[in-house]
Amino acid sequence: MTQNKTYLFANWKMYLDYDESNILANALAEKSKKFSDEIEMTVFPSALSLYPVAQTLSDVKINVGPQNIYWVDKGGYTGETSAQMFKAAGSSHALIGHSERRHLFHETNHDVRQKIEASLNAELTPVLCVGETEKERDEGKTEEIVEIQLRATLEDLNWPKDRELIVAYEPVWAIGTGNACDPAEAERMHDKIFNWIKGLAPGISPVLLYGGSVRGENVEGYLQMSHINGVLVGGSSAKLESWMEIIENSTRAVEKL
Ligand code: 13P
Repeated sequence: MTQNKTYLFANWKMYLDYDESNILANALAEKSKKFSDEIEMTVFPSALSLYPVAQTLSDVKINVGPQNIYWVDKGGYTGETSAQMFKAAGSSHALIGHSERRHLFHETNHDVRQKIEASLNAELTPVLCVGETEKERDEGKTEEIVEIQLRATLEDLNWPKDRELIVAYEPVWAIGTGNACDPAEAERMHDKIFNWIKGLAPGISPVLLYGGSVRGENVEGYLQMSHINGVLVGGSSAKLESWMEIIENSTRAVEKL
């Protein structure tokens, strides 16, 4: 890994209701005393649960962020919540451009860019998600698609020097399927992504995460790769037992490096 921290990011998606989110946050707060200082953890609860989860985790070293934001600060945008509002509710990060937003809710690269800009303006650290669909992969378009996603979002952006640039490579075919990308194949894409970002945001050393069917039993394989700084986990992050297994196996992997 090129960074000295290991990033364990938990996307709770719409798996947990209000009570379940608070129960999991409380359990993590309790266990957090034993977490290694080298682990940087961020959880992304539902918008409904974000404020109490952020309150619970404010005294422990676990960051909180929304799964999506809107780019206007305030106004007549029924059903939306702005980056500024999430910042005021205790967020430090924001997931942007997750494949479920892109494919189920028709978010475009242009929307993603506006959300990245709004996150930076609100002093949130965006976590930009990129990745190709199974069809795009079968057509040999993986690199083309991911480069377009990065370029559309980051070109001429002038990334602030004091803010991390975090990109999660999440191949759509690996999300929620149990069909995780082979670590060596993920590393090959991370290496490409690293070099594209070097060109798009000179002087910034990106943090790169892998996401897609990460489990306790396969997490170490990703963390051993030189351009993979951590993982973005869906299903296995929303249950205490499977998330703890990922934390424990990651800690072991970090100690071995
Ligand atoms: P799964 O870990 O459930 O495959 O989801 C990955 C993901 O989408 C994280 O953002």
